[in-house]
Amino acid sequence: MRVIVIGGSGRTGLLIVEKLVAAGHSVVATIRNPKRMAETVKRGAETIVLDLDKSPLSDFTTTMKGADAVVFAAGSAAGESSALDRIGTRRTVHAAENAGVKRYLSISAIGASTGLSIRSMDDEMKDYYKQKRAAAKFITSSSLEWTILEPGELTDGGDTGKVLLSQQAINEESISRADVAAVTLALLEEPKTAGKVFQLTRGTQTIAAALKAALS
Ligand SMILES: NC(=O)c1ccc[n+]([C@@H]2O[C@H](COP(=O)([O-])OP(=O)(O)OC[C@H]3O[C@@H](n4cnc5c(N)ncnc54)[C@H](OP(=O)(O)O)[C@@H]3O)[C@@H](O)[C@H]2O)c1
Repeated sequence: MRVIVIGGSGRTGLLIVEKLVAAGHSVVATIRNPKRMAETVKRGAETIVLDLDKSPLSDFTTTMKGADAVVFAAGSAAGESSALDRIGTRRTVHAAENAGVKRYLSISAIGASTGLSIRSMDDEMKDYYKQKRAAAKFITSSSLEWTILEPGELTDGGDTGKVLLSQQAINEESISRADVAAVTLALLEEPKTAGKVFQLTRGTQTIAAALKAALS
């Protein structure tokens, strides 16, 4: 597959790039900061500098032409507006549709689709969840074969290969970015995950077994 990774230089994005390349896929990483280019290039990704807020939509569309899938792994940093999650999703969904890309996989946050209450969260987290929920509406009402992955709190621990994946609400637990990247690859490679939202935390099942269970 030719896969566009939006936010390819992010902590999760870079691991997704790495795993996609290792699995034999052709990867295009879009990054905001040109200073990060060496990291994605070193991992074997064609790299294009595109800002989700500022670059013209036509540049995203051109970049996506001929691709099989788009992975949205960008996200607002602490202190940055979470509007990026909504606006960046809306723009990349439109670009993917315009470019004729079929698959779109987005990384959201645990509970965003399962009715997790945001009442007791601080204002920053409340806004973050509102933006992720708005982003999901663009995705699910698009013409794309979409998949949304909603992981728990991300850590920088390495691959454990053991996860809990479910289409139902699960307890909030953490998960390493490396495992999120590995699950992203597994979801992309399984067409039956299209049109579905998955919760993901650390767990006890191998990724293959967890995916089989989540789809049964
Ligand atoms: N942190 C958590 O605990 C958690 C939990 C669940 C889900 N998630 C979600 O998981 C995903 C990955 O999270 P992460 O913590 O691994 O991400 P991260 O390391 O913070 O990386 C985010 C990436 O998004 C890019 N970005 C930000 N604004 C942009 C813009 N305007 N245009 C283009 N790129 C832009 C950043 O580019 P620069 O390098 O230029 O800054 C960065 O590379 C995000 O969608 C996040 O919401 C996070």
